[in-house]
Amino acid sequence: MPRINDHYLKLKAGYLFPEIGRRVRTFAEENPQANIIKLGIGDVTEPLPKAISDAMHAAVDEMGTRETFRGYGPEQGYDFLREAIVENDYKARGVDISADEIFVSDGSKCDTGNILDIFGPDNTIAITDPVYPVYVDTNVMVGNTGEANETGQYDGLVYLPVTAENDFIPPLPDRPVDLIYLCYPNNPTGTVASKETLKTWVDYARNNNAIIFFDAAYEAFITDPEIPHSIFEIEGAREVAIEFRSFSKKAGFTGVRCAFTVVPKELTGRTADGSEQAIHPLWNRRQSTKFNGVSYIVQRGAAAAYSPDGKKQIQELVDFYMQNASILREGLEKLGISVYGGVNAPYVWLQTPNNLPSWDFFDQLLTKTELVGTPGSGFGAAGEGYFRLSAFNSRANVEEAVGRLNKMLS
Ligand code: MLT
Repeated sequence: MPRINDHYLKLKAGYLFPEIGRRVRTFAEENPQANIIKLGIGDVTEPLPKAISDAMHAAVDEMGTRETFRGYGPEQGYDFLREAIVENDYKARGVDISADEIFVSDGSKCDTGNILDIFGPDNTIAITDPVYPVYVDTNVMVGNTGEANETGQYDGLVYLPVTAENDFIPPLPDRPVDLIYLCYPNNPTGTVASKETLKTWVDYARNNNAIIFFDAAYEAFITDPEIPHSIFEIEGAREVAIEFRSFSKKAGFTGVRCAFTVVPKELTGRTADGSEQAIHPLWNRRQSTKFNGVSYIVQRGAAAAYSPDGKKQIQELVDFYMQNASILREGLEKLGISVYGGVNAPYVWLQTPNNLPSWDFFDQLLTKTELVGTPGSGFGAAGEGYFRLSAFNSRANVEEAVGRLNKMLS
């Protein structure tokens, strides 16, 4: 009988979003008339920008003609997309990244999990708490942790609490760590990291030979011009960071699937015998072996995000969701609730009324108002007493949601 990966048995019952889905389905089955509004998972609702869908249609036509048909593409992504990324996401911000340091993929969720393939088993890993659950679960799966305790924290991980008490600024680890996950703008708290905060982390990583996994999936939602969009805006970051970016939220690609990961050539780790090894060729090897690239049609769509029309339409989409975020924020503030995020990120993070446990508030909200959010404790022990609302929805639903919150809480 084949041996299974026992580490999977350490995982907590269900991945957060399926667990929410399960509770919502049960409620809907028992209350078929319910008009449920979902502000739980951050999933986009608005259609693809026209420049993108036009580019994808044109690419489909190319694939339907012998002369322009394409088979396997480069595993790392087509040059037209990698170059557009370099020009628009990096050069335009004065950041030096070359096209062959960009690895186009089908999602940052996959990349932030897959990246562990190229790291060894004896690393100490730091994560913020609360945190995007994928970082934790993928470390559990590969055996980088022990068992979870009753609050859901895994033995072996270094948790960095981010709460209202520390202004959501993660404290530096109290012991040496090798890998650090940072996500800014932050999922789930919707807060951002200033240049100074990121510099502190880059300096820490340089002084401690650590690598930062920087998830910037929500950078397009930054409205404050002082906030960095990339960790590579910080001097010295090329030697210590890998950056993950995504088209999911900014371009409406949650169902289309396209993202990219930036691995600078300066970045190194150590081998078992202690010698230095570049990370870039390892990720290249991993992707070439286990991944066959993103479809040509999708990459043409992603590249259109950088065309003049595409940029304009994406900005409109981002502005639309950010307007939703401010409607949610203001609605909650009027009710006297402490609210964070929602200014440079599409997530609003609130303290539950009367310090209700997060899942209790989830259940109350669902049963009394037919609204779905995400319990803060689902993102980690330090998220207990908090709750996340996503701004990804139609305007009508967001306004209706605020009206319902008003009725329940005023
Ligand atoms: C979220 O709601 O946190 C996101 O949708 C998760 C994701 O992007 O995978």
